[in-house]
Amino acid sequence: MKAVLVADDHSLSWAEFDAPSVGPNDVLIRIHATAINRADLMQRRGFYPPPPGASPIMGLECAGEVIDTGADCTRYQVGDRVCALLAGGGYSELAAVHEGSVLPIPAGLSDKEGAALPEVFATAWLNLFMEAGLQPGEKVIIHAGASGVGTTAIQLCKAFGSPCFVTLGSEEKLKTCLEMGAAAGAVRHDGPFLEAAQSFADGVGIDVILDPVGAGYFEDNLKLLGLGGRLVLIGLMSGTKTELDLAQLMMKRARVIGSTLRARPVEEKAEIMAQLEEKVWPKIESGEIKPVIEQVFPIAEVSEAHELVASDKTTGKVVLAVES
Ligand SMILES: NC(=O)c1ccc[n+]([C@@H]2O[C@H](COP(=O)([O-])OP(=O)(O)OC[C@H]3O[C@@H](n4cnc5c(N)ncnc54)[C@H](OP(=O)(O)O)[C@@H]3O)[C@@H](O)[C@H]2O)c1
Repeated sequence: MKAVLVADDHSLSWAEFDAPSVGPNDVLIRIHATAINRADLMQRRGFYPPPPGASPIMGLECAGEVIDTGADCTRYQVGDRVCALLAGGGYSELAAVHEGSVLPIPAGLSDKEGAALPEVFATAWLNLFMEAGLQPGEKVIIHAGASGVGTTAIQLCKAFGSPCFVTLGSEEKLKTCLEMGAAAGAVRHDGPFLEAAQSFADGVGIDVILDPVGAGYFEDNLKLLGLGGRLVLIGLMSGTKTELDLAQLMMKRARVIGSTLRARPVEEKAEIMAQLEEKVWPKIESGEIKPVIEQVFPIAEVSEAHELVASDKTTGKVVLAVES
């Protein structure tokens, strides 16, 4: 099979690889589309190695057609149209993945739209609802609101009744996120978001903050949390080291939660996917929640697609179409 090879100088090419082996609980997917995640840019530079046992090929999600199933698979059959959360191996023609990480492509969606779902929906659902226990009516801050994860989190907050405030990189992105359902926001290049977020918090504090930025936002995040607030750290785009006022954390009875998705055991991923299928897939099929796609590139243009993601100019996902 063909897949994207990363050379020692980090350049990318479409090269020959061995096909993946199919375990008893795996389905083998002929990939029609995959999508880019921020983590791929780090993996390409050698900063985010795949977890033990995962494919060394980049790519955390895919959509396509089942072409084989392991002996113990119970749910999927050859020919099913599916999308899947991967620990690696999405920038490829074939992926073998535990059936618990696989979901049907929601009715009415194309393969390219299906490929834009797994990683960001699993991340946003896991961290807002399973880790932070978000309840209807609670107030949320979503940092990097126009990112793949951010645009998903905005739509989930709206659909499940939680007003959200976003931070992001431009007025244009802010306008799009407000149209998508955010209640208010701040452009990060205009200065600290603290004041605008305090006015959104309206004196009672924020209940849940979904933060991929890390060190640079930590102090203001803590100031904004209300009693019993939860800060979920899912990325460290501004750095890893900061100071923590323990008194503030304690007096607010607040929680700081660190969370990653990729290296979780297959059983935990299966639980996340099952909740998505039950609670979110019907809202995608009804059109209430939509995949947000900035642009689709043929996989031969993966380098240009990575450049676009790295430019911070995207809103939502960049998808790669894979022609076999
Ligand atoms: N823990 C997990 O399991 C998990 C899973 C998936 C993703 N993530 C993390 O979630 C984040 C979003 O991922 P994604 O793939 O959806 O990203 P994405 O679509 O590539 O968007 C990332 C956005 O972050 C903003 N940004 C970049 N550098 C920044 C900085 N130094 N400070 C503040 N904002 C910055 C930029 O938007 P603006 O210019 O508009 O601000 C950029 O477009 C990433 O940090 C990723 O690593 C974590």
